[in-house]
Amino acid sequence: MSRFYSDTVKNISPYVPGEQPKDRRFIKLNTNENPYPASPAVIEAVRSVTGLEARLYPDPEASALRRTLADHSGLAMNQVFVGNGSDEVLAMVFPAFFNRTDTIAFPDITYSFYPVYAALYEIPSLIIALAEDFTIDFNAYPNNLKGFLLANPNAPTGIAVSAGKIEELLQLRPDMLLVVDEAYIDFGGESVISLVPRYDNLLVVQTMSKARSLAGLRVGMAFGAPELIKGLESIRDSFNSYTLDVVAQRAAKAAYEDVAYFKKTRQTIMTTRDRAVAALLEIGMQVCPSSANFIFCTLPGVAGAEVQQYLRDNGVLVRRFAMERIEDWLRITVGLEEEMDEVIRLLRLLVQQQG
Ligand SMILES: Cc1ncc(COP(=O)(O)O)c(C=O)c1O
Repeated sequence: MSRFYSDTVKNISPYVPGEQPKDRRFIKLNTNENPYPASPAVIEAVRSVTGLEARLYPDPEASALRRTLADHSGLAMNQVFVGNGSDEVLAMVFPAFFNRTDTIAFPDITYSFYPVYAALYEIPSLIIALAEDFTIDFNAYPNNLKGFLLANPNAPTGIAVSAGKIEELLQLRPDMLLVVDEAYIDFGGESVISLVPRYDNLLVVQTMSKARSLAGLRVGMAFGAPELIKGLESIRDSFNSYTLDVVAQRAAKAAYEDVAYFKKTRQTIMTTRDRAVAALLEIGMQVCPSSANFIFCTLPGVAGAEVQQYLRDNGVLVRRFAMERIEDWLRITVGLEEEMDEVIRLLRLLVQQQG
């Protein structure tokens, strides 16, 4: 504790990212990274950056990247915002749209960065429990909310809400900004990007970290009405005008343009996931229906911490959130076929030992 700490630093409980091991090789299924490398076109784009380009500041508007994103999404450039990972985009959403006198809401079990941002910006938050089966009931939320954070598919459950349900919510609550965090949308959910031109109370946040294998380059984006995008730009330009460097801008554009590679890798991940889910159910685990690149599951009768430690001792990292209701659940990222085979083999052994 330094005597120079602000009250913010004294009081905040920061987000804790998943472990990035340095000392030992693990099968790493703890941070929802893509098991496949970025597209070869990305590597070519990275190599194309010259020393002279590195000398200059990057395009603060990230125009070439935003053009590509707009074209691929059927939107105009002024409906697209980019940032240093979707975490940064979300970090800008809070001060752009919410005041300390507003109330925003999100479920008790969702992306654990939302309560951190809410605390950082001192935005009062209403946190309502998901149902027993981890589904969400929008009727449980009051009408006077200024904003709603909806991860779709939800993290860490992987459960998705239909686009129809989201549209219904947009219509029922025109004065509530619905932020739909689609970090995992490419693995089976229904994106609501196509609703952006029709609803000025919708902001869709996406990332290149998952389905496009670019977690290391930090690129996230938001799609919304031009006025919402302007709000985000005002915050960005009051903070750091150059959030995306020249390498990230070019690489992300290349990643987005390589549609064939994206389709192939995400399909493989979904196939691997479905096979792994079937195997986990077969050995007696309880599994949430996943529309994401991870599987949320629990082994009845065995503490989650114990299962996590057993997997770690055997070279596999998975994520667990030591939170009420889900402390016995594990979030297992969908890895390579052979990595999932190994996890299933280990879990089967554990079940046999228990029996
Ligand atoms: C629901 C959700 N939103 C946003 C993010 C942030 O992704 P990134 O900052 O890599 O774009 C994550 C990362 O795991 C996530 O799970």
